[in-house]
Amino acid sequence: MHALETVDVDFRYPNGAHALQGVNIKIRTSSKIAILGPNGAGKSTLLYLFNATLRPTSGTVRLNGAPMKYDSSSLRSIRQKVGVVFQNPDEQLFAPTVKQDVSFGPLNLRLSVEEVEKRVSESLDLVGMSGFENLPPHNLSTGEKKKVAIAGVLAMEPEIMVFDEPLSGLDPKGQADLTELLDQLNADGKTIIVTTHRMDFAAEWADEIWILKNGKVTKKGVPNEIFSDMSLIHGANLQVPMPIQTHNELYLRGFCNKQVPLSVLELVESVIEYSGENDYTGHYALAKEDFAPLDDCFIGFENGVLVASRDDFKNCFARCRCTGQVHKGKEIPIDLSDVPEGKVWIVRTPGAADGGAEMMPATVVRGLIDSRKPNRIGAMGTVAKSIVKNTGLNYDFGSEVVNSAVSASRRGLSTMIFATGKMADLAAKRIAYLNQRMGEEISFQMVDGEL
Ligand SMILES: Nc1ncnc2c1ncn2[C@@H]1O[C@H](COP(=O)(O)OP(=O)(O)OP(=O)(O)O)[C@@H](O)[C@H]1O
Ligand SMILES: [Mg+2]
Repeated sequence: MHALETVDVDFRYPNGAHALQGVNIKIRTSSKIAILGPNGAGKSTLLYLFNATLRPTSGTVRLNGAPMKYDSSSLRSIRQKVGVVFQNPDEQLFAPTVKQDVSFGPLNLRLSVEEVEKRVSESLDLVGMSGFENLPPHNLSTGEKKKVAIAGVLAMEPEIMVFDEPLSGLDPKGQADLTELLDQLNADGKTIIVTTHRMDFAAEWADEIWILKNGKVTKKGVPNEIFSDMSLIHGANLQVPMPIQTHNELYLRGFCNKQVPLSVLELVESVIEYSGENDYTGHYALAKEDFAPLDDCFIGFENGVLVASRDDFKNCFARCRCTGQVHKGKEIPIDLSDVPEGKVWIVRTPGAADGGAEMMPATVVRGLIDSRKPNRIGAMGTVAKSIVKNTGLNYDFGSEVVNSAVSASRRGLSTMIFATGKMADLAAKRIAYLNQRMGEEISFQMVDGEL
């Protein structure tokens, strides 16, 4: 099923600018799509067509399979289904206060006052703008305006959300939070479409990428395909993401395999895999205490020296078993060839709509951690992150959480992942997929029954 589709779409602005020319795009329902291309390529114009702010000069835009109509009742229904956050928040914000601005859409849906209040406060909370309710939007900073504009669209709860350059103007924490929010919305089944000039984000985040240039689609594909094609990337004034640039250089020098990494973690894995997963097997570590046979043996570097400890420690990267008696200060042989795989537990936390972090008290979180004793903690989604922080703990993995947990598991370390709402199912699916693809059997368990 396609959420949106354009069929031979042409668009000309009144001054004659031919912004879109024969554009055919299909966007699968519930997918994460990035639209890339140089300035003036037609990206924003295309997004305006998606919620019928503009109407094609010729050709058709289809929404959930049906050609869009442009009478006023059809327009109302389209705008309820497709929410667009414009590139420039000043185009979007108009009400005298932040609260009135965010309430505008839901009020138009003729929802009850309580429902509007609930949506407004949840949306402002999700973008980190609670407390700004009574301020006039024009007094806010650019990034703050952007967040309010996003909240305004969230409050409409559209099934398709379109973001024109959502990361521009946001500080690094704001960018990370928004990326997480986009994933969370997608986990809830929403189709998410963004335009961006941030190639690292597009590579890591998108399911599918479409490239526009001079009003035409020049290529579509999964990030791997797109970013393997250097001439395409340079031809479209784009840039190769840093992990891929680094990978190219390492590959040319024979340090990694050819598989194109889409993130820093994938790059690291590619180097490790190439040099042999069990590279440290046959090496020795300095025993930090006395070891008996079969003791857990946590391996890591301390000040450049490979050390072994009976307990987990911060820089430890692997766990294996001690084979014999070794005294403190002596060398302990490392054997990573037969490491028992670490477990992964996935704990589903409530989502913002279920009452948020307050619904899962610190004692419950502590109880789960104390009973399973994971080596690492991961958190996916804003609510899960708050829940872990409320417990006074820090999470080890806050991005690329599932990949990090799987990679830790291969090195004998277990992870407990706290995942907000439906992100828990996505995490489970992803591990099952990786198990199948890599022929591994990383054992994972959902533990939401205990909440
Ligand atoms: N309101 C307008 N009137 C006339 N021409 C316009 C208008 N808006 C955009 N254009 C033209 O349409 C073309 C596509 O513009 P568009 O804003 O869609 O590009 P874009 O890909 O979003 O670029 P950017 O990366 O800079 O945001 C450009 O040539 C632009 O000059
Ligand atoms: Mg634009």
